[in-house]
Amino acid sequence: MKTDRIVIVGAGMGALFAALSLAPRPVLMISPERLGEGASSAWAQGGVAAAMAETDSPEAHAADTVTAGAGTVDADVATMVTADAAHFILDLTDLGTPFDRDDNGGYVMSREAAHSAARVVRVQGDQAGRQIMETLIGRVRNTPSVQVIEGALATGLETDGGRVTGVWLRRAGDPSGKIVIHAPAVLLAGGGSGGLFAHTTNPPRIRGQVIGFAARAGAMIADPEFVQFHPTAIDMGEDPMPLATEALRGEGAVLVDKDGTRFMLEEHPDAELAPRDIVARAIFKQTQAEMRPMLDTRAALGDSVLTRFPAVAEACARAGFDPVANPIPVAVAAHYHMGGVDTDADGRASLGRLWVCGEASSTGLHGANRLASNGLLEALVYARKAAEDIVRTLGDVPTASEVQIDWPEGGDPVNGDAVQRLRDTMTEHVGVRRNALGLRHALATIAEIEAAAETETLRNMTATATLIAAAALAREESRGGHFRDDFPDPDPAQAHRTKITLDRAMDIRSKAVEALT
Ligand code: SIN
Repeated sequence: MKTDRIVIVGAGMGALFAALSLAPRPVLMISPERLGEGASSAWAQGGVAAAMAETDSPEAHAADTVTAGAGTVDADVATMVTADAAHFILDLTDLGTPFDRDDNGGYVMSREAAHSAARVVRVQGDQAGRQIMETLIGRVRNTPSVQVIEGALATGLETDGGRVTGVWLRRAGDPSGKIVIHAPAVLLAGGGSGGLFAHTTNPPRIRGQVIGFAARAGAMIADPEFVQFHPTAIDMGEDPMPLATEALRGEGAVLVDKDGTRFMLEEHPDAELAPRDIVARAIFKQTQAEMRPMLDTRAALGDSVLTRFPAVAEACARAGFDPVANPIPVAVAAHYHMGGVDTDADGRASLGRLWVCGEASSTGLHGANRLASNGLLEALVYARKAAEDIVRTLGDVPTASEVQIDWPEGGDPVNGDAVQRLRDTMTEHVGVRRNALGLRHALATIAEIEAAAETETLRNMTATATLIAAAALAREESRGGHFRDDFPDPDPAQAHRTKITLDRAMDIRSKAVEALT
């Protein structure tokens, strides 16, 4: 099939904002679920970081971003993204997002870890992701240039001489035979990799497939070893694990062990608001020592936690748990992938006619440890940059007729047991604490799962898992979200970003498997 529409893979905040930014140019948006369902953006509780307060500045926001990133943030990218942040909040407000406002009409700002100021604009406490998504979806549904195909999954890229010419699609959930849609430009905005881990805060479908198929098509990948683990996923047996937003700690909630002792006081001068990787390792240590870490919101919030943080209240209610009376059990979970498809300042990947934005990309903003609430901001900024660059590249795009898909017979059912084995391996060996032996075992298991894989979807997952574990094995130091028990200190000589192809990661994997035998 062939279309003159610009194909956008994904349906999260970056995808929706790009589709609106491209209007009136014709777009075909590929959404695995109904719009708004299944995208990580809709689950984001914190909000969007932006220096909106008079006492704050984009320079301070950029400086915090660079510090949090632990030595590998691209300072020019941090300057560019933070400089524009306030405009994006005003644009989202104009589009209809009901941000929390004070009596004078000013934005109410949440405080999150490693920000030197309260800098996160929010909606109804923890509803930012959901509300911004609803606003954008409403707009997209009323934008005639955007055709949305719901229930379709991208599984690969069609290339010709280093240039992307189309995408492979299948029906999601109820697999069908593959179809190829040829298009003038492809923008990947299909999320990160959290679900490759057994413990994650990401929606179930977000399992590194987009990064995986871009890498399999030959795209350069950046920083795949840097995965951010959220310290306070609610530990009450759900998969994925619901989030207890960092903004709760910003409001004064404290972390305690089963004896009620605040353990973060000993770990870092900023205690509960220490950088996320430090809090995550402290929680992990408590869990390993069977000290049952918990987030105690009682003194700080009392029963207002139920109304001010409705998503947290809902998650507790599902488990029959009362957060007003008891501290909330928490554990570490994979939350955000700083790594992804390597992109330049316009969101361009290393393959021609391919752009990437949001968590599937790696722009250099996050370094080894993303500053809280910079993820949605980056998705918005690069969605617009990519849209502008696509328009510059393609020139005038003609009107295009709607794409009609007749799904062919066939099937690509995912092997659930293999996926679970992959997720368990990633959490056990490629999680919060890593070492060479564990990473080699992980790579060997990934290779076994890949050898038996019968579907593109599973091969896309094993490609991303290979990139994460291979780059983690190659980085013999600890930095940000990447902690090696066998190399516990940062090494100034390694204070640079990783750029790696899937071929190179496969070489590392082969050698790792050999070293085990
Ligand atoms: C949170 O609300 O704790 C998460 C925010 C983020 O990851 O940016």
